Amino acid sequence: MIFAANFKTNHTRTSTKEYLATLESLAQNSSDEFYLFPPLSALQSHIGKITIGSQNAYPTKKGAFTGEIGLEQLKEFEIRTILIGHSERRVLLSESQDFIAKKFDFFKNNGFKIIYCIGEPLEIREEDELKVIEFLAEQFNGIDTSYENLIVAYEPIWAIGTGVSATNEQIASTHQAIKTICDKPLLYGGSVNAANIKDILKIPNVDGVLVGSASLDPQNFFSLTK
Ligand code: PGA
Repeated sequence: MIFAANFKTNHTRTSTKEYLATLESLAQNSSDEFYLFPPLSALQSHIGKITIGSQNAYPTKKGAFTGEIGLEQLKEFEIRTILIGHSERRVLLSESQDFIAKKFDFFKNNGFKIIYCIGEPLEIREEDELKVIEFLAEQFNGIDTSYENLIVAYEPIWAIGTGVSATNEQIASTHQAIKTICDKPLLYGGSVNAANIKDILKIPNVDGVLVGSASLDPQNFFSLTK
């Protein structure tokens, strides 16, 4: 199974170092796959069981893009994994599908492992399942779904950080539909925690989880794998 931790704007460079050391020792003998997305200020070269990825970057080697980082800055820390399309960037930072597709292409052409996030807002979920699938299908516009280094993460926006995860039935049917659009490893994300993880991992077509709040403590995060 794949376990990915998204720190968002949490943790510092110092606390990320401590976290990594703890998680490395816990995960030493695990057969699971681990990814960690710390804030950009905590990116660091790291060799071990856990792969560090970037929560974001601009599709450029370097240049005049105030507040962003590019390939050159990622290369300094041997970062070759990136999160693209997270709903917080789509919604709060107004990233369009066009721009997201450009970003995807750029990092694909540079051989990055891409965790590509999709997810619908509550008003779409409240319509019907067909509308959900149509909405999610549009989030694949311009995306090379056959890219070998692609992992998809389905994260319903209404389930992120709310404590209300999607139901097992919703995850099962949506994941099945997503797999017909893009047959790649598929993570579920949205209020994954110690109470629901066991059931979620049993659902067919769930290949792992992308975790925000419940990933912030290394012990908690690792306990999700047990
Ligand atoms: P959450 O966040 O686990 O806090 O709901 C998940 C995510 O946004 O990746």
